[in-house]
Amino acid sequence: MNYMNVDYSTKIPNNVNLSEDRQVLKALEGWHPGYMDWWSDMGPEGFQQSLVYLRTAYSVDPRGWAKFDYVKMPEYRWGILLAPQEENRVIPFGENYGKPAWQEVPGEHRATLRRLIVIQGDTEPASVEQQRHLGKTAPSLYDLRNLFQVNVEEGRHLWAMVYLLQKYFGRDGREEADDLLRRRSGDADSPRMLGAFNEATPDWLSFFMFTYFTDRDGKMQLHSLAQSGFDPLSRTCRFMLTEEAHHMFVGETGISRVVQRTCEAMKEAGITDPNDIAKVRALGVIDLPTIQKKLHLHYSLSLDLFGSEVSTNAANAFNAGIKGRYKETSIDDDHQLKNATYPVLKLVDGVIKRVDEPALTALNMRLRDDYTQDCVKGLLRWNKVISLAGFDYKLTLPNVAFHRQIGEFRDVHATPEGVLIDDATWNKRRNEWLPSPADGDFIASLMKPVTEIGEYAPWISPPKVGIDNKPGDFEYVKIDT
Ligand SMILES: [Fe+2]
Ligand SMILES: [Fe+2]
Repeated sequence: MNYMNVDYSTKIPNNVNLSEDRQVLKALEGWHPGYMDWWSDMGPEGFQQSLVYLRTAYSVDPRGWAKFDYVKMPEYRWGILLAPQEENRVIPFGENYGKPAWQEVPGEHRATLRRLIVIQGDTEPASVEQQRHLGKTAPSLYDLRNLFQVNVEEGRHLWAMVYLLQKYFGRDGREEADDLLRRRSGDADSPRMLGAFNEATPDWLSFFMFTYFTDRDGKMQLHSLAQSGFDPLSRTCRFMLTEEAHHMFVGETGISRVVQRTCEAMKEAGITDPNDIAKVRALGVIDLPTIQKKLHLHYSLSLDLFGSEVSTNAANAFNAGIKGRYKETSIDDDHQLKNATYPVLKLVDGVIKRVDEPALTALNMRLRDDYTQDCVKGLLRWNKVISLAGFDYKLTLPNVAFHRQIGEFRDVHATPEGVLIDDATWNKRRNEWLPSPADGDFIASLMKPVTEIGEYAPWISPPKVGIDNKPGDFEYVKIDT
C-alpha cells in the first residue's frame, strides 16, 4: 500500500491500511454513527444541506495533499491520515534518547499517553461546538466557507485521536472515544476538559481571535507531540499541523481585515484619534481599543492552556520520551536537560520576578514562551496596517500576569502592563481591559449576515486573495441547493 495516498474504498478514508485491520475498522465504523449524531446536534447550525467549497485531504504529500470541491458538510470524508513513517526514527529526547521510536504503546507509559491523547482530542470537537452559531452571521460567503473548513477539519482531528485510542488502547481507549462525543463545551455537568474550550465564541471577531490565539496553542501542543517517541502519535500530529496552518491563517488575516477596514473608515471620516470610540463606532466599524480588549481576552485564556509554569507532569512526559519541546530536533543541547535551568516568571513576595528553575520542570513555561514569540508575528502585521494608514496606535500582548486562571498568577490581579493591583481596582477597571457587556452588544449589532456573492459586511475588508486562487465573485457556499 502506498502510504502517501489515501484509500477511499473503505467507509473511512485512510492511509493506515484499515481494510486489513478489521478490528480497528469495526471499532471506527461502530463509532461513526455517534459521530454523525454529534455533528448534527453540535456541528454548524444550518447550512448542512448547502454545497460548500471545501478542501479534502487526498494525500499526505506536502507538495499536494488537498483537493477542492463542493461538498455538503455531512458528506465530508473524515479520514485517518498519518504522515509517512520515517525509516529508523529514534526517540529524539528524554531518558530513552536515541533508542528506536515505539510502534506500540510501552506499558509503563500507557496512562500518560492516553491522557495526553484524550486532552488533545477533547479540544477538537469543543471548538466546533463553540463556533456552531457563527454561520448565521457570517460577513461573507468567503468567511462562511473558511468557518466550515475549520469545523470539518477539527472534526477530522477528532477522528485522528479516536483512531489512536481505538487502535492502541483497547477497551479503555474505546470508552474514552465515546466520552469525547459525550462532553459538551460550556456544559455545567459535563464540560470540555480545558477552560478556553468552554468559553463562548459569540461573534466573528472572537472567532478570528480564537483561530489566531487558541488554534496556535494547538499548534504548539501538536509540535511537541509530533516529537513523541510513540511513532503513531508523532505521525498523526505531523499531518494535523498541515491543516492547522490554515486555521491560524484565517485568524491572522481575519483580524488584519477588521483592522484595515476600521483604519480606512477612520481615514475617510477624518478621524485622527483611534481612541475616539463613539465616533469610530458611529461609522459601523470596530474601534481599535475594542479589538485590543478582545486580544487581551483570547491571549490570556490561551496562556492558561499551557498549564502551570512549573510542572512535574511535563518533566515526566519529557523524561519518558512522550512529549518533547517545540522544534526539539533543531535544538542544540543534550535533549535530556540534565543540568539545565530555565528562567520562569514567578510571584515572589508580591513581585513578579524571573527565577531559574530546573529546565525539566519548566517545560510548560518554555513552550508558552515559544508560543508568545509566535504570536508576536501577527501583531507586527496588524500594527503595520495601522501605521501605514497613518494612525498612532499599537496593538500589544498583555503581560502574562494579566487575567490568569492557571499557574503562578491565578490568585492575583494585574493590569495589561503587569502592574499588580488589588481586587477593588480590578473590579473597577476590568472593563477598560476586557470586553464589557456593552462592547459585546456593540459588536453583536454589527453581526449581520452577508450572503451575496462577492459582497462583504461593512466592518471587514475583503481578503487580498481568494481560497484556491478563486476570483472575488466566486460562490464559496451555495446556500440553497
Ligand atoms: Fe485541530
Ligand atoms: Fe484548528
